[in-house]
Amino acid sequence: MTESWVNSAERIGSDLHLELSSAGSGGRRAAVVRALREAVRGGRLAPGTRLPPYRSLAADLGVARNTVADAYAELVAEGWLTARQGSGTRVAMGVSAPPSGRRDGSASARDVTRAPRAAPPRARALRHDLRQGTPDASSFPRAAWLTSYRRALQQAPNEVFGPGDPAGRIELREALTEYLARARGVRTDPDRIVICSGFAHALRLLSGQGAGGILRGPLAVEAYGLGFHRELLATAGVRTVPLPVDGHGALVGGLGRERGVLLTPAHQFPTGGPLHAERRAAVIDWARARGGVVVEDDYDGEFRYDRKPVGALQGLDPDRVVLVGSVSKSLSPALRLGWMVLPPRYVDDVLAAKGEREAWASVPDQLCLADFMASGSYDRHVRRARQRYRGRRDRLVRALAARAPHIEVTGVAAGLHAVLRLPDGTEGSTVEAAARRGVALDGLAAFRHPETDTAVTGTAGTGTVVRDGLVVGYATPPDHAYGAAVEALCEVLPPP
Ligand SMILES: Cc1ncc(COP(=O)(O)O)c(C=O)c1O
Repeated sequence: MTESWVNSAERIGSDLHLELSSAGSGGRRAAVVRALREAVRGGRLAPGTRLPPYRSLAADLGVARNTVADAYAELVAEGWLTARQGSGTRVAMGVSAPPSGRRDGSASARDVTRAPRAAPPRARALRHDLRQGTPDASSFPRAAWLTSYRRALQQAPNEVFGPGDPAGRIELREALTEYLARARGVRTDPDRIVICSGFAHALRLLSGQGAGGILRGPLAVEAYGLGFHRELLATAGVRTVPLPVDGHGALVGGLGRERGVLLTPAHQFPTGGPLHAERRAAVIDWARARGGVVVEDDYDGEFRYDRKPVGALQGLDPDRVVLVGSVSKSLSPALRLGWMVLPPRYVDDVLAAKGEREAWASVPDQLCLADFMASGSYDRHVRRARQRYRGRRDRLVRALAARAPHIEVTGVAAGLHAVLRLPDGTEGSTVEAAARRGVALDGLAAFRHPETDTAVTGTAGTGTVVRDGLVVGYATPPDHAYGAAVEALCEVLPPP
């Protein structure tokens, strides 16, 4: 049976005639996929053409909205379509068109077998982005951010448009003082806060010559962490020494003569365990005894799911711990806004390192974030995002339990990524197999400190040594593409 329909010109800017054929397998979703794929492949839908919204196409077809949404997602994953916030779903640029002169929509045998040829390299090479690092860009709270921006600009004194104070706007430092105390157990006042453009900037400020050598080496770091941060320290001449990591975070008992230590206590990056209470106390004892400094990278402390919130380590000793946070995980890494909560003795050095005027963090943006926080929008956004990410985390865990029960998933009580433990010796080949299928993700090796021979990771309490694993970020794919991404991941995992 064949059904046909025409979409109104008002909805999509041009008529779209599709034929749903019941021939072939897979039900209605598969029929919609086939019909759309043929329309693109046959050239009737030109590159760049905007497709109707799910709802209206579903109404025209007499199918459920999700049927259309799933069909679009599948075609996005295959590279035929692209989906962008604000511009809807479109035919990907450069997908196969019929030879010129074929305007009837029928495809030649050659066309029919051709895959999307010149989909944008990124879309083709990278069908599913499961790398950790970025929140779901499609859920940036545009409306609430705009409301705060408008209000902030309307109320801003003219001086906001002159050179800025390197400490950051007082409105933002006050909002952070309230928020960090309430939500993260941080003990501070606005005078101890210096605004920066994110964690990486904070590391530069703490390790640069101008900062009076707050982070001169040797500096202990977790054996697993972001290589980019280690490189940044190396560039500043700070030697880093790896501390082994297990399911309870860094083994801080190994701290010795270092001048400082850099930790991710709320959620070890990337292995996922929170720093155990005894280790939290031990690292503070070490810092007091040695006169050392602890740098606390609080990169995703807001995102916890089924365990009690882990307050900031800074709350244990605000004179020994530099807490650094940013909006990179909670809102967007594009905003480049972060904060440092400093022991008072470091404030002048950090301000000197920053320079005489604000040269890093846009002052109007600072005011906007201040309003966003003070008005409760930040809390609302974080709570909503937490729910959404928890849903994704649960979906991932369920899919793995069903499809790959032999793969242990760890580090999922918090954060935006999970670690999948792999049988020894299979990490590299699994990452490669994933890449061949267009699934971008990293293995644990990508995060290992180069001098890490003795580092161990394991699940809390087991102490099991594990070296192979995948770091799977579940925040980045947009909602409509998430199911396909998880499915593709399951397909590349090694068998039992
Ligand atoms: C371990 C870790 N620390 C810090 C950050 C934040 O970095 P930044 O504030 O420079 O964007 C990230 C990424 O968002 C991260 O993965």
